[in-house]
Amino acid sequence: MDTSVPVRLDHRGLHLRVTGGAASYFNYYWLRDNCPTSFDSQTRERVFDIFHLDGAPVPERVAVVDDALEVVWKGEGHKSLYPLEWLAQYDSGKRRPDPADLPRRAWYSDHYPAIARFAQPDLLANKSAVAKWLEAIIVEGVAIVTDMPDSNEGLTELVRLMGHVRPTFFGEYFDVRMHIKPTNLAYTAKALELHTDTPAEEMAPGVQFLHCRANTVEGGRNLFLDGVAVANDLKREFPEDFKLLSETEIPYFCEHDTYDVRSRQRVIELDKHGEVSGVTISQHMADIFDLPQTFLDQYYPAFCRFARMLQSDKYLMRFTLKATECIVFDNHRIVHGRSAYSATSGERYLRGCYADRGEMRSTYRALTSEGRFK
Ligand SMILES: [Fe+2]
Repeated sequence: MDTSVPVRLDHRGLHLRVTGGAASYFNYYWLRDNCPTSFDSQTRERVFDIFHLDGAPVPERVAVVDDALEVVWKGEGHKSLYPLEWLAQYDSGKRRPDPADLPRRAWYSDHYPAIARFAQPDLLANKSAVAKWLEAIIVEGVAIVTDMPDSNEGLTELVRLMGHVRPTFFGEYFDVRMHIKPTNLAYTAKALELHTDTPAEEMAPGVQFLHCRANTVEGGRNLFLDGVAVANDLKREFPEDFKLLSETEIPYFCEHDTYDVRSRQRVIELDKHGEVSGVTISQHMADIFDLPQTFLDQYYPAFCRFARMLQSDKYLMRFTLKATECIVFDNHRIVHGRSAYSATSGERYLRGCYADRGEMRSTYRALTSEGRFK
């Protein structure tokens, strides 16, 4: 390419030096589609419809004017103006940076004193506190909100700071206390083994809220652990087991008189970078494994090794959630359970619900970053 010519037209795109280095290439469809006038300033949505162009977009003439590329499109007469600085963000084809894509910080059994804590009145009054709260949930997977009012509305108000209450097949809210005819171990005083919630749903809810309204019983200790910490250790110590658990989908179920919920999930979940993002595990909702029996020769030992690791003192954080506290955690990462309690020793009541993780990340981005239109 002749360095004295700033723009060279090619068959399907043009070459242009947007920075001091080598020339960059931009496709004509991409340029036409992303003309700044394609986006409505009020709705911020794309209003230009590239599907209705008569043919492939081709420039009639191009020029670089005052640090911007100017293109007049053949047949349309439409003129597009692209700041070179803006073009430079897209010339390498790299994904747009996501402010909500924060590295996770794994934690272990001693994490309880260090859990990020926020008072509900501060969150309601202060958007920067909300941003810090969401950041803690994204990075560590767990946070405790203190000073919650003893009301149903208090929980709803808290959820609304990050999104909407996300219903599941049993409704919008659930009450963890003794039920006369329990359909779930949670509704008894028995020990509740370590699990993530509702793995039988095709897309299990992302963020879980457990608002403690009363807790005066003997026993009933809360058990929480970071699935990312355990899965990363498994990856290092038993890579073959890790491969099996992160690649194999196993069946989960939740069935009673009026519902029959089923899904297939990987026990260890990876994100788009290939890093462990979380786990899906539930002994009481794992269905009968309908996998080849010879494959189970390998899978079961790996599955059991991982489940035993989850119960290790290295990872298990034990504490007692107090009335006025609400623990908020990533249901695809944080594994939780509780020890048995004495039902006659007092009252234990937790009210819970869920929110969507994508919506939480959306709120976090809106609170902390510029976006494309600000
Ligand atoms: Fe649960």
